Amino acid sequence: MEKSVSKSSVDFFEKKEAGLKSAKGDVLGSDKADAFSSAKEDISTKTKGNNIVNDESIITLAIESSCDETSCAILKNGREVLSNIISTQIDIHKKFGGVVPEVASRKHVENISIVVEDALEKAGVTMDDVDHIVVTYGPGLVGALLVGLSYAKGLSMATNKPLTGVNHIEGHICANYIQDRNLKPPFVTLVVSGGHTHIVEVLDYNKYNIIGKTKDDASGEAFDKVARAMELGYPGGPLIDKLAKEGNPHAVEFPRANMNDGYNFSFSGIKSSVLNYLNSEKMKGNEINKADVAASFQEAVTDVLCEKTIKAAMELGYDKIALAGGVACNSQLREKMKKMADENNLGLIYPSPILCTDNAAMIGTAGYYRFINKRIDGMELNAVPNLKIGD
Ligand code: KG4
Ligand code: ZN
Repeated sequence: MEKSVSKSSVDFFEKKEAGLKSAKGDVLGSDKADAFSSAKEDISTKTKGNNIVNDESIITLAIESSCDETSCAILKNGREVLSNIISTQIDIHKKFGGVVPEVASRKHVENISIVVEDALEKAGVTMDDVDHIVVTYGPGLVGALLVGLSYAKGLSMATNKPLTGVNHIEGHICANYIQDRNLKPPFVTLVVSGGHTHIVEVLDYNKYNIIGKTKDDASGEAFDKVARAMELGYPGGPLIDKLAKEGNPHAVEFPRANMNDGYNFSFSGIKSSVLNYLNSEKMKGNEINKADVAASFQEAVTDVLCEKTIKAAMELGYDKIALAGGVACNSQLREKMKKMADENNLGLIYPSPILCTDNAAMIGTAGYYRFINKRIDGMELNAVPNLKIGD
């Protein structure tokens, strides 16, 4: 997607660069993110209509609507969250056992302006204070993405503020920069969400290299499908996580798939194996201990996720690992990874639960780093449902 830099964007960078040069004798550049933020911290505060924003801070307004959460966040200098409003549709989709795309789009339309106004109000800023607008343009449900994207484009056009499109998965990774304000690339990330399971090298703020991925189901999808088979409800991940605490993780030895295939994963085998187990126990007339099945399934999935991520970090010489995506909320994944990371002298970062699930703050951070690297999109930016990391 080629970028067309609008007049307002050029003016913005000229103004900011001039400010930075005079403040520090430094120039804003792609690899100067740190110098950039620390330079700005030295600049004295000049109020801009309130006491939160100073003239040299960059205020980001970010919008996320790729699946079933409508969210808007306001950030200061990319890593400080002033507000992060999330309107979730989970209760609506629960009735259908999964996300219904048409319903999701309609709810985004109903909620988007309320969520944006709320985010501005909670942050104590107005649109005048906002320097640039960021929006998720993929991957996700096309109708859902289009709601946030159209709103962001309209806002950009009406206010003459630059617009930057963000990859949702890169957003999940960037949630770690909010969690740990000192975190800097390079590091290795395990991205585990409803639609993705990737091991990614984060080489720089905007530079990613996928080294492993699932060949079939995503890990979150496996959690959701197994939960559905056990009639636990939707979304399945948190329900299995909770139930597993009461079960024996060694009650059933489910297969650990793809252990010999580099950093790649496969979760359809383990999912089928759980479904077969449930069917055969039912046919035999045995009562199923759901907590044992949940614990054994979770044990098998987290074993593979942890072993492959630790292996990647060790073999490629990284000293820290970050977790990202909805499944990164999983309590056993966090505990097991922490234990294995400690044993191998690796650092481990994972976002708080609110930053693991879909939210606009993480999109704002990803967009901030693209923006200071001068990645500006024009009005031709379109939704890309199967957008890949690094596109
Ligand atoms: O990142 P996310 O909110 O949405 C996508 O971008 O896909 O991830 C949603 C996924 C769902 O599959 C959900 O079941 C899973 O994350 N999930 C969990 C937990 N919390 C959410 N999986 C396992 N354990 C959890 N505690
Ligand atoms: Zn997500």
